[in-house]
Amino acid sequence: MTPELGVCYYPEHWPEAVWAEDAARMVETGLSWVRIGEFAWSRLEPSPGDLQFDWLDRAVEVLGSAGLKVVMGTPTATPPRWMLDKHPDMLAVDAQGQPRKFGSRRHYCFSHAGYVDECVRIARIFGERYGRNPHVAAWQIDNEYGCHDTTISYSAPALKAFRLWLADQYGSIDVLNEAWGNVFWSMEYEHFDQIDLPNLTVTEPNPAHVLALRRFSSDQVVAFNKAQANVLRPLTDAPLSHNYMGRVLEFDHFDVGADLDIATWDSYPIGFLSDRLEDDAEHKAKFLQQGDPDMQGFHHDLYRAVGGGRWWVMEQQPGPVNWAPYNPAPLPGMVRLWSLEAVAHGAEVVSYFRWRQAPFAQEQMHAGLLTADSRAAPGLAEARQTADELKAIGPVHQKQAQVAILFDYASDWAWTAQPQGAGFDYFRLVFSAYRALRRAGLSVDIVSPQDLPKGYAVILAPGLATIDAELETRLAEACELAILGPRSGAITRDFQIPLSGRPGLDGVDCHVDLVETLPPSVKRPVVGGGAAQHWIDRLSGDGADLLRFEDGTPAVKTGDGVWYLAGFPDETLWDRLIGLAAHHTGLTLQPMAEGLRLRETAEHTFLINYNADPVEWNGYAIAGCDVAILENSASSEV
Ligand code: GAL
Repeated sequence: MTPELGVCYYPEHWPEAVWAEDAARMVETGLSWVRIGEFAWSRLEPSPGDLQFDWLDRAVEVLGSAGLKVVMGTPTATPPRWMLDKHPDMLAVDAQGQPRKFGSRRHYCFSHAGYVDECVRIARIFGERYGRNPHVAAWQIDNEYGCHDTTISYSAPALKAFRLWLADQYGSIDVLNEAWGNVFWSMEYEHFDQIDLPNLTVTEPNPAHVLALRRFSSDQVVAFNKAQANVLRPLTDAPLSHNYMGRVLEFDHFDVGADLDIATWDSYPIGFLSDRLEDDAEHKAKFLQQGDPDMQGFHHDLYRAVGGGRWWVMEQQPGPVNWAPYNPAPLPGMVRLWSLEAVAHGAEVVSYFRWRQAPFAQEQMHAGLLTADSRAAPGLAEARQTADELKAIGPVHQKQAQVAILFDYASDWAWTAQPQGAGFDYFRLVFSAYRALRRAGLSVDIVSPQDLPKGYAVILAPGLATIDAELETRLAEACELAILGPRSGAITRDFQIPLSGRPGLDGVDCHVDLVETLPPSVKRPVVGGGAAQHWIDRLSGDGADLLRFEDGTPAVKTGDGVWYLAGFPDETLWDRLIGLAAHHTGLTLQPMAEGLRLRETAEHTFLINYNADPVEWNGYAIAGCDVAILENSASSEV
């Protein structure tokens, strides 16, 4: 299918008289999809049971008859004020015990059974009304689970549900005490009802207790989503989706995705560079108006996996956002570049947020494709240009990459429960691996521990917290070379050090004798170049030392189909390691200029230049903020 464009629209924000004109303008711009509904609950049910859907019926009709396909959002991220009167204990509670009050959005606790019932009720009303509407061609359930730090709640309903979840997981309190090591500090319980949520403890809580809360909280998101999916499923044939948010790791997106048909995510490259990445000031200055050259690609590859191959960008930044500390404008060309980049990674649809800038409330400083007074904002022309180009490009098919990164949400939960060193962060480690692969000109797949396709030359699984025998077998079967470490296989599911004494896979004979963490200013140099930082596993064992630190200790140990990496590599060490892995497996690398990225699809090679200035690649000049699309066979430009 040829990738398409869309936009997020809020008919409830505008007089009905302008809907038809808006719809015509969307179509004229080349947009095919429009997402509506996801925050409209107070206008659909102004008081309990008073359903006022006529206006939404008309909006669907106006948009649909203009030729747009509608994505219908269930409005459960924004419960109206009366909901709180009806369910006063529905608010999430933060770790300090403070309720997260009404007056913005996402003010609900996933464990509140009464609120879940309300969501099921409203989803059923939506499904019955629009499930067979010919204009409604896809669904979105809720909006950005976990955004604004909303996954974990320390409320009374969460506590009640947590105890039930623990009883179900462990069966008996003795099993739980043993699994958590509660003999330590006399933390043993006599029954499940004595267990509290792990906040407000005198000093740190037991990491096993924290990890259990993290698993439970993720399962609550999955259950919340599933409740709506189950209601909608029989009422519609249109695909179900959810829009995930960048670098939100508090629930397992693969588990949520298992109940949906399409994964979508919300891509705000300039906002993310500013508020979600730890990079140095120089890097941030260089890409201030373009975004990080790997952040979008990483999430595209992640959501291709979460969606089982089917994924969209549901919200694409079209101009300055309102929520980062500073909000510069994209350089000319970047809105088009981000859109084409998404397509290169397999997006079926790229949808801009939002159609028209809101003149009121929290996001009035957030750009749309139109200004608040309906003039064309700078992003509109780029959307139009992209729409034309997509038609010329035609269908884009993905093919399996030669390298993959194993991404595991539970590893992030584990390592935030017990970081051991302030600089050690799971996402940062995995993202540094991703960047290195992309610097080497490789297209990358992201895989989950639950779904590990075979056929990779190399799979990187840095920081993979728990490796049981079953995962070990599947990982070994999935690739020629698995690279583990640092901190891989370091804990059991219940946060104990495995007494098998070895990290990772059987193929490499190596043990961790001690662990060190280092402050950010300190690096441990490796003989021949590069260094480890933040985290060092001091290794011993019979596996050959592929690289050593300058102090003589092993930096990388090798074995049969497995290498174990002792530290968190800096850029140079990652580059060396990937060079060695490529040599070992026969992979061809194509080192890329800074800010230039390559993505190979079945038909094309996309060269994506995040730099403001032109760069060269194999004799091609690629302008600043531009994408060159080469046809694979003929190597000629499209
Ligand atoms: C997203 C959200 C949208 C809007 C947007 C602003 O996170 O889903 O509703 O708030 O950010 O950038």
